[in-house]
Amino acid sequence: MTAEKTDIAVVRDKILKLKKDLNAIILAHNYQRPEVQDIADITGDSLELSRAAAKTDYAVIVFCGVHFMAESASILSPDKTVLLPELGAGCPMADMVTVTGPRKTKRELYTDVLGITFAFADEFTLLDMKKKYPGVPVVAYVNTSAAVKAESDICCTSSNVVKVVNSLREDTVICIPDRNLSAYAAKRTTKKIISWDGFCNVHHAHLDVEDVKQAKAEHPDAVLVVHPECPPEVQDMADEITSTSGMLRFCKESNHKEFIIGTEEGILHRLRKDSPGKQFYILNREMVCPNMKRTKLTSVLTAMEKMQYVIKVPENIRVPAKRALDRMLEIK
Ligand code: 13P
Ligand code: SF4
Repeated sequence: MTAEKTDIAVVRDKILKLKKDLNAIILAHNYQRPEVQDIADITGDSLELSRAAAKTDYAVIVFCGVHFMAESASILSPDKTVLLPELGAGCPMADMVTVTGPRKTKRELYTDVLGITFAFADEFTLLDMKKKYPGVPVVAYVNTSAAVKAESDICCTSSNVVKVVNSLREDTVICIPDRNLSAYAAKRTTKKIISWDGFCNVHHAHLDVEDVKQAKAEHPDAVLVVHPECPPEVQDMADEITSTSGMLRFCKESNHKEFIIGTEEGILHRLRKDSPGKQFYILNREMVCPNMKRTKLTSVLTAMEKMQYVIKVPENIRVPAKRALDRMLEIK
């Protein structure tokens, strides 16, 4: 090691060595910090990472993302050790739906900030929903807990929600937990969608039509690309609505040179890497997911040194949850 070597390079070297020693693969979501994305073997959206977790041969999966993503890896690869470097990295939207108990993310946390009226009380559970609409299949966004997936018929991600909804034979489906993803799907299917009333505070709370107008005025030649978790009125103003990896593909293949991006700011790192000659502007600077940002390079190193935090879904939940995930993964 040279004296000039930066701290970051030292940590990187240690991680790379441990990766070999442990026979580990590092998966990172597109919202992770740039230096975490750069150390990962695979970066991607939820669907790509689920597929990678399902077919990996490595003994250890280090999941740089949030809790439900590591749970999905554990569900799909039960014989592997799945590590989530920061145990507190949750997803508030995923916590907006529970199987039995009250919501873990209380609406009071958001009503003050957003002035939103919820359709259901905090005590309203997935089982209540199923009782209210007997026989109606439940499509669970992957941004849900393993327990919720286990009570659902099929999973979906932002990139396949329409295909998943259309794959069901019933004319009416329940979509949980994101109201905006439900609205996105409802516009693209003939099926009736009954939606849960959850939302992502990064995509929902920090965005409105005024943000779009302002960004478009500042960058009149830019194309607007947004995530389906954005509010419907923002989606309506967009040129393209797609998942995080869908954005990467769209911007790379596009002939345009400037893009306004309506999703978590971590994606800009990869966008700029993939398309160096193009300009990317975040739709709103507040679009930062604190949970995605918890994982630092040092968290990854500590996780591998201490083999923490092991995410293991119990078999009674894993088996039915896997059924819902497998059913999704079978859809091409
Ligand atoms: P993607 O599946 O599009 O990467 O989205 C995951 C997510 O958490 C969006 O907030
Ligand atoms: Fe959850 Fe939103 Fe963060 Fe995605 S960006 S992990 S939906 S809180």
